[in-house]
Formats: sequence, structure tokens, C-alpha cells
Amino acid sequence: MPTGAPFDLAVTDRLLATTRSVRKRLDLDRPVEREVLLDCLRLAQQAPTGSNSQGWRWIVVTDPQLRTGLAELYREASADYFGGAAPAADGQTRRVRDSAVHLRDELHRVPVHVIPCIRGRADGLPNAQAAGLYGSILPAAWSFMLALRSRGLGSAWTTLHLGREKEAAALLGIPDDVTQVALLPVAYTLGTDFKPAARPPVEEIVHFDRWSD
Ligand SMILES: Cc1cc2nc3c(=O)[nH]c(=O)nc-3n(C[C@H](O)[C@H](O)[C@H](O)COP(=O)(O)O)c2cc1C
Repeated sequence: MPTGAPFDLAVTDRLLATTRSVRKRLDLDRPVEREVLLDCLRLAQQAPTGSNSQGWRWIVVTDPQLRTGLAELYREASADYFGGAAPAADGQTRRVRDSAVHLRDELHRVPVHVIPCIRGRADGLPNAQAAGLYGSILPAAWSFMLALRSRGLGSAWTTLHLGREKEAAALLGIPDDVTQVALLPVAYTLGTDFKPAARPPVEEIVHFDRWSD
């Protein structure tokens, strides 16, 4: 551990290493307090944005009918993704698919759906501008998920409903010039003992100074 680290690395590293996609271990029966959500969103607002633009908006959906509507859109939009036989895959990928199917089927029951949004559209923009737009909301959304985890709640980053983004916008009254970037199903987790995931050695994905094969 570096000397003089300003944080307790045992705690912060565990938070960063164990904030998993939670789908099967979401507590569907325990209500989530609005104040907890606002605390997590307040922390998310500390994330960086391009030119300090802060064009973020968060749609927090708790109404059961609206959650059912979003879950239907998610199911429709993911039909191709889940359609057909599961491709041959390693154990981790098979578990992810199984867990993703579970979330698709239970999404309407997850007590809170949070949709991070950003003012503006990336449609047809050059990469520099598209990166600026998405980069001004994705760090905040991940901060939100970390803040949830540190309070005993969990979520899973999902994007499948975006195949029906327009329909979701109509359902929730989101203006045309606003981009939805994800749908985060939020609940307390059943237990908090999540583990780091298996990942390849970092040396395989890092290039110092120049790209090398
Ligand atoms: C851009 C992005 C889109 C994703 N979309 C979905 C999704 O629509 N549905 C889902 O169940 N999981 C989705 N995931 C979650 C991934 O499946 C998950 O992050 C991955 O399997 C690794 O698991 P972990 O987050 O527990 O490490 C998405 C993740 C990312 C980063």
C-alpha cells in the first residue's frame, strides 16, 4: 500500500473491485427510500462533465405501471439478443446470460428504475463530440452505482431498452433532444458479499507509450 494514501485502500479497493452487476440478488420486496437515492445522485453529481456542462438528468421511476411499461419495452428490444439458442460460451459468459434472462423476466418487479440522461444527441456527431456527450454522463452513472453499493444497494448497467428509446421517452415524457444512456434497476441487495470478477492479467491489455501486439 502506498504510504500516505489519503483513503483506507482496503475499503475503497473492495468497493471498486466488488461492484458487480446484480440481477438475481436484488431484493424485490424491500422499498428503497427516496432520500437514499438522492444521496447517491448527489454523489454522482461530483463526476466530471465536458466543459463543466452538467447537462445530466436522471429519471427515477418508481410507479409500478411505468416500470411495467419499461420492462415490456426492455423485453421487446432484447428479443433478438436473447432469441435462439444460447451460443456456446465459457462458464462466466453462460452465467451472465442466465442472470440477464432473469433480470429481463423480473425487471417490472425491481422497485426503482433509474435512467441517466444527458441533454443533446450524438446522432451522426464526430467521435470527439460524441465522446464529450457520453463522457459527461457515464462517469456519473458509475459513481451512482458505487454509491449504491456502499449503502447495501445494487444495480446492473443495462442498455437493452435503448432499442426502444423513443417509446421509453414517450412513456416518461423525455424531450427529443435528450439522450438516455442506460437503465439501472435499483434495489437493496440480498447479502453484500460480492466478489471480484475473474479478469485477464492487466499486462495483456496495457500498452506503455506505444500500441504493441
Ligand atoms: C455498456 C454496457 C451495456 C450493458 N447492457 C446490459 C443489458 O442490457 N442487460 C444486462 O443484463 N446487462 C448488461 N450489461 C452488464 C454486463 O453484462 C456486465 O457488466 C458484464 O457481464 C460483467 O459483469 P460485472 O458487471 O458483474 O463485472 C451491460 C454492461 C455494459 C458496460
